[in-house]
Amino acid sequence: MADSEALPLDEAADPRNQLNDLSGRAWTYALRSVIATRYPTNGEEGYAHALRRAHPSPKPPQLMAELIRFFTKRGGWVLDPFAGVGGTLLACAMEGRSGAGLELSPEYAVIYQEVCVELGLEPQTLIVGDARRVETYAALGEQRFDMILTDPPYAQMMARPKTGERKKRGRGDATPFTVDPADLGNLDYRAFLPALREALALALARLKRRGYLVLFAKDLQPTREHHNMLHADIVAELLALPGLSFRGYRIWHDMSQNLYPFGYPFTFVANQVHQFILVFRNEAD
Ligand SMILES: C[S@@+](CC[C@H](N)C(=O)[O-])C[C@H]1O[C@@H](n2cnc3c(N)ncnc32)[C@H](O)[C@@H]1O
Repeated sequence: MADSEALPLDEAADPRNQLNDLSGRAWTYALRSVIATRYPTNGEEGYAHALRRAHPSPKPPQLMAELIRFFTKRGGWVLDPFAGVGGTLLACAMEGRSGAGLELSPEYAVIYQEVCVELGLEPQTLIVGDARRVETYAALGEQRFDMILTDPPYAQMMARPKTGERKKRGRGDATPFTVDPADLGNLDYRAFLPALREALALALARLKRRGYLVLFAKDLQPTREHHNMLHADIVAELLALPGLSFRGYRIWHDMSQNLYPFGYPFTFVANQVHQFILVFRNEAD
């Protein structure tokens, strides 16, 4: 099915479909391996991007909505332990799901509330707190989730702009999300991996059996010391978690990113304008 075809969301789902509300055709469309949609950043389709861009890397709510539609049914519950300005939580409200999130920065939490007001979307539960202390927040109650959808911070300080790259609008790619020592984005690559595993282990304790953990990861440029395929290292790290199986990945081609002539005219340097969407399933009760 061609990428440009409209997603057939109005067709009935097979009654045996326990995962989502999609028909076979919509399911097939949702399995295309590369998502290369251009998400507008202004007008109604921009989903208050002018507010959300105060964050260095807000995810398009429409992208998160597509994933939520595949991995949950209407009325399902979604957890985002690294919620930022709420790409996942906005998508929950758009898709008739309930969401809960954690975000270290009170500043981003306030922006999320402002975005909800501007868009007239129902605010979901957003706790200002540390993902590594998820069990201590009473606001989550005893809630179990159908899906964890998250876009963790990753060794952000290492992603410095390369020669010839214009600094992004907003706070820029090389700017840490926060200066908080609890911010996983401020850890170096080797310290980041176990810290992410620790945080996700706590979130997974709340994921229903057969619920999916879907997370974004962007690779770094290779060095002499390491390949820096962060997505591969994250998969290896998370497979240490009992009951978690790796089910594969999709790729998000971020059409808002510019291409640069890195290395020209001497050597190959990759443009990394894509992110991996890693898919795991909880096989444990
Ligand atoms: C890549 S951003 C998520 C962006 C989000 N998907 C959005 O649409 O806005 C990762 C977020 O994790 C937050 N963060 C970092 N360490 C954290 C921690 N220990 N607990 C909770 N949030 C944390 C950062 O402040 C940052 O906003």
